[in-house]
Amino acid sequence: MKPREIKNNIYCVGAIDWDRRLFDSLIPLPDGTSYNSYLIKGSEKTALIETVDPSLQDVLFRNLEQLDIDRIDYVIANHAEQDHSGTLPMVLEKFPMAKLICTPKCQELLTEHLLIAKDRFKTVADKETIALGGRTLEFIYAPWVHWPETMVTYLQEEKILFSCDFFGSHLATTDMYVTDEGQVYEAAKRYFAEIMMPFRAPIQNNLEKIKNYKIDIIAPSHGPMHNKPEFIIKAYHSWVYDAPGNIVVLPYISMHGSTRRMVAHLVEALSRRGVTVKEFDLAVTDIGKLAMALVDAATIVIGAPTVHAGPHPNIMYAAFLANALRPKVKFASIIGSYGWGGKTVEIIAAAIPNLKVEIIPPVLCKGFPKEADFTALDTLAETIAEKHKAAGLV
Ligand code: FEO
Repeated sequence: MKPREIKNNIYCVGAIDWDRRLFDSLIPLPDGTSYNSYLIKGSEKTALIETVDPSLQDVLFRNLEQLDIDRIDYVIANHAEQDHSGTLPMVLEKFPMAKLICTPKCQELLTEHLLIAKDRFKTVADKETIALGGRTLEFIYAPWVHWPETMVTYLQEEKILFSCDFFGSHLATTDMYVTDEGQVYEAAKRYFAEIMMPFRAPIQNNLEKIKNYKIDIIAPSHGPMHNKPEFIIKAYHSWVYDAPGNIVVLPYISMHGSTRRMVAHLVEALSRRGVTVKEFDLAVTDIGKLAMALVDAATIVIGAPTVHAGPHPNIMYAAFLANALRPKVKFASIIGSYGWGGKTVEIIAAAIPNLKVEIIPPVLCKGFPKEADFTALDTLAETIAEKHKAAGLV
């Protein structure tokens, strides 16, 4: 993809990664991603905002060559993670006059992660500006979206917010701007769920902070740009402020069908009581889908068979993930089958201390579920429905 002009002398010069299917060796990327980099020319100075993942550095350099860029004065690093910063050392080598602009915290991280020499940096304070000649960049601290050092950059004259991960989506597309809001909503929510959900409070602060800026375009560092910024700002508002919905998320594993039979019964019982259920078989599920479902859920019920006297390892993986993501869930429970005994409930409960939830009594059964177990599952469904109602979630 050649450099594309956003406005006169403002270009997209980043790279589309159509083939990437896993991020941070953890997060599934069903639709690829992009590493957006932006070049802004003023009448006196030229700035590059972000670089790209090192695997696609040739794309960035080819784009700069096509624009005949022989001088960059400022390289702006909003965020130190390597998918944006990884090509910084090569860019700084190619443009020896360029100053690297970032927050002091980001300087510390870039020094540690990329071994960049101290004399290449110019750190900026919150709301500090740099003039390019007819164009002014304002740097707005935006910590914890999702690292502590992050800022966003606002181009005052054109009212463009370069937001890095904030408002971004892992989506490979040739469209410069959002064209399919449904598709981008899903990709942005997946990204929010996987890396930003634990930081809802700082994100609320950051939304407040940018509230009074007039923004015509949001230019994130992943996915298409937003020329109708209210769409993505409204989505973020809903993810960080809204109460959870009348929704149960039910991740489970079943080894021989007993836990699966319990899950099927509970799903039916909850559904009959008007509760939406999102069921995930952890043997095959995309954990991004599970993370997205947790954004809006009021309750998590974990379906866990017992192996070697404890929960199945895949269950512990999901419990660890849910604990790390700190969703807004208010209630939790456990169901499952065991062979002869074990400490499944105790081990799972100990793995989720970050979830500030009320534990609803679990339903465990020996072997295949029987009449009394189905009755206990009905009681669990009734309790969940009542608690959702009492919390005003329906
Ligand atoms: Fe896209 Fe936090 O890096």
